[in-house]
Amino acid sequence: MGLQLGSIAPDFEQESTEGPLRFHAWAGESWVILFSHPKDFTPVCTTELGTVAKLKGEFDRRGVKALALSVDDVASHLRWTVDIEETQGTKLNFPILADGDRKVSNLYDMIHPQANDTLTVRSVFVIDPNKKIRATITYPASTGRNFDEILRLIDSLQLTDSHSVATPANWKDGDDVVIVPSLQDPEVIAKKFPKGYNAVRPYLRFTPQPNR
Ligand code: BEZ
Repeated sequence: MGLQLGSIAPDFEQESTEGPLRFHAWAGESWVILFSHPKDFTPVCTTELGTVAKLKGEFDRRGVKALALSVDDVASHLRWTVDIEETQGTKLNFPILADGDRKVSNLYDMIHPQANDTLTVRSVFVIDPNKKIRATITYPASTGRNFDEILRLIDSLQLTDSHSVATPANWKDGDDVVIVPSLQDPEVIAKKFPKGYNAVRPYLRFTPQPNR
């Protein structure tokens, strides 16, 4: 059975552009996005890594560390880093795992043989400070990921962890949210949502984002 939401993200030790990396110790108390790339010196991956580097302030603000993976070795990653920095106009500010032996790729089921026998697909694992896998996204090699969407996803996870709400379609930070269906006690609802709510249906209750 593959890794499922709620399961503990497997620990590992692997080489990286910042030296040997023991995953759980490196993650510490932070949230993590672990995201795989098919190969070094490929165009889409180059733009993705530059994009994540430019978003460092946004990830920091949410307490998130970025960790990339590609199946080439450290020497190749370091040569590629020079290219990424030149072409994307930004310094890389997070490690890239050198997963030449596919240890992490196999542990996280990032190689999908029907897509490609040896290269990883574009996997994303969002992992919380308790090391639980909270969300996964899988894209093919031909499609670059939308890292604004990954930030939006993290905003939703962090908000819904601390309030009895869920986030509707296309929600973004600051928009109205919905009260979780399990919450039915009117007194509790009044206490938790002093700004009130709009019940479009008994099960569809919009309320202003409670932490705003
Ligand atoms: C890329 O990152 O550009 C890429 C990698 C593998 C296949 C196709 C595109």
